Amino acid sequence: NTVEACDFVIFGTKGDLARRKLLPSLYQLERAGLIHADTRIIGVARNQMELKEYVGLVKENLQEFMSEKLDAAVWKTFSAKLDYLCVDMKDHAGYAVFKEHVDADRTMVCYLATPHSIYGDICKGLHQAGVIDPSMRVVLEKPIGHDLASSKVINEQVATYFKENQIYRIDHYLGKETVLNLIALRFANSIFATNWDHNCIDHVQISVAESVGIEGRWGYFDEAGQMRDMVQNHLLQILSLIAMEPPTTLDADAIRDEKLKVLKALRPINSSNVSEKTVRGQYSTGFVRGQEVPGYLEEPDANQKSETESFVALKVELDNWRWAGVPFYLRTGKRMPTKVSEIVIYFKSQPHNLFKDSFSKLPPNKLTIRLQPDEAVEVTVMNKVPGLTGSSSMNLQKTKLDLSFSETFSDERIADAYEKLLLEVMLGNQALFVRRDEIEQAWTWVDGIIDAWNNSNEPPEAYQAGTWGPVASIALLARDERAWYESK
Ligand code: BG6
Repeated sequence: NTVEACDFVIFGTKGDLARRKLLPSLYQLERAGLIHADTRIIGVARNQMELKEYVGLVKENLQEFMSEKLDAAVWKTFSAKLDYLCVDMKDHAGYAVFKEHVDADRTMVCYLATPHSIYGDICKGLHQAGVIDPSMRVVLEKPIGHDLASSKVINEQVATYFKENQIYRIDHYLGKETVLNLIALRFANSIFATNWDHNCIDHVQISVAESVGIEGRWGYFDEAGQMRDMVQNHLLQILSLIAMEPPTTLDADAIRDEKLKVLKALRPINSSNVSEKTVRGQYSTGFVRGQEVPGYLEEPDANQKSETESFVALKVELDNWRWAGVPFYLRTGKRMPTKVSEIVIYFKSQPHNLFKDSFSKLPPNKLTIRLQPDEAVEVTVMNKVPGLTGSSSMNLQKTKLDLSFSETFSDERIADAYEKLLLEVMLGNQALFVRRDEIEQAWTWVDGIIDAWNNSNEPPEAYQAGTWGPVASIALLARDERAWYESK
């Protein structure tokens, strides 16, 4: 695939997402020579602004949110591509400006970096302006809705004007190098491919921990909570890639068909089993990396009575042939001791222990996939400690086969997830984007849990900021005689 010239329109160009992620990612793509010379990047916001002012703003953004210095030559070609349109996104008549501004010969890509409540307005406005054609692509940020019903409404509004093959629903975890590598690890390596089921795997742990709190997003976060903000999308997408059957090809629909089957196999959690399968927590004041931080209810603008969860732990089961009897334990939270995302696959123990002198119980082999930071793949294996001991008294030790991305691929820069996803949109490849049926299936399952929580009248359990969540999260695994692995 080659990147064609496009009109890349960012609705909400002054918002946090555009400033922190989209503009820096586009700049990096420019730097890598991956943006077509004739492409234009058109920012859209409500404020009247001269192009010169917008260009200045973008420059400031890049300087603020990129760890490296702006390269003068790259900035020159990048800034020449910038354009700005002032549009009140709720006023459909205002979209007429697009007719004069966009070039009918170029593919138009519209990135909706706005609240989902105006996705419908934007699509309708573009339609009324007469600029929608079959080549146009629309990119939707998460969250798409608040529950199944509201996500259907939004999906329907967008579907009124765009076909599914024009809609790119972003889940930025699908652009992370190590998440994509799950497909390579599983399907390019027979040692994993042939051991990837209930015969060989005991259980799976997925942890996505963040040390940050709400970061001034109280209004949004308190409405959402960790379940909607992280589990409904990122964690379920990771789980789907781990659990899916081999797709017939790497085509978008081949992969998405398989992910959907996983989501359909999720065993429902409802009032009858919610207390046994889920834990929700809310952080209280504590210390993160030696710094005292306020509790969730003490954050600026907090509603003191909020019962929104900032931590979730789940025991997830899949009702299908491959994964029968293999639990997937998921946990994700804010204000954890550190930022780390890891997948740990625990293999079954050996049927008989020949090494009782060293280990009363042989530790299981583990495959750890570290998504961030320090991207890595590690396999824990038992190894003989070298020495003059014979076979009768072998001394064993747990060791690691360790593939660190930064060491192994030291010449490659690890691109931000958004860089990869924006490039995929420009290439017109939907494989790394979430299809409508996946989103709706994920909501169906998540809604069951949230309803059960709401019906239980039990508030989330408090956990001190800087810890790994409430005690009940440890108990969730302890009941199955298991424990959360300790991150390094
Ligand atoms: C976003 C959530 O989707 O993902 C945020 O809305 C969260 O609350 C973020 O902080 C985490 O992303 P990453 O890439 O930093 O792990």
